[in-house]
Amino acid sequence: MLSRSQKQLITRFPLGCIATVSSQGRPMVSPKGTFLVVDDNTIGFGHIRSPQTLSNLRANSACEIVFTDPFTRKAVRVAGNAQIMIRSDAKFSDLIALWHNTWGALAKRIRALVLIDIAACADLTTPPYDNGITEAEMISVYQAKYREIYP
Ligand SMILES: Cc1cc2nc3c(=O)[nH]c(=O)nc-3n(C[C@H](O)[C@H](O)[C@H](O)COP(=O)(O)O)c2cc1C
Repeated sequence: MLSRSQKQLITRFPLGCIATVSSQGRPMVSPKGTFLVVDDNTIGFGHIRSPQTLSNLRANSACEIVFTDPFTRKAVRVAGNAQIMIRSDAKFSDLIALWHNTWGALAKRIRALVLIDIAACADLTTPPYDNGITEAEMISVYQAKYREIYP
């Protein structure tokens, strides 16, 4: 079950990298920026053009996703099993409004919703926290770094 802070991180930074398993048993990772928290036990993304990820999930629904806050350098890892809702599924019609509200016109391109039933989730932190850096200090370090990249 997702905690409040985990839901907040995913909502603020919805770009998740999803790991799936290929038919040859190889790990594959793919970025998805349309993740939303559906409820405490479910997250989902919109399939716009993710053929390999969808094919992997149809054969093996197991997956893991990592979401990272690039300023606090904290992350959430979610593990679970995916269900694929195509446009003709009643559940697709029930849920797609959430994506329209968040993503506007992009949501029109969603061909299926991939819902992940969460089996486990964990908070991850970067090692400098072990040495006593505070979250506020971390944020200001990364605000400065990103400002240098994109002034
Ligand atoms: C930052 C970023 C966000 C993306 N978000 C999505 C998404 O939400 N849904 C989607 O279908 N594709 C998304 N894509 C595109 C797919 O990741 C891309 O088409 C990829 O080639 C699909 O490969 P796959 O079939 O192995 O997942 C995104 C790509 C990037 C770089």
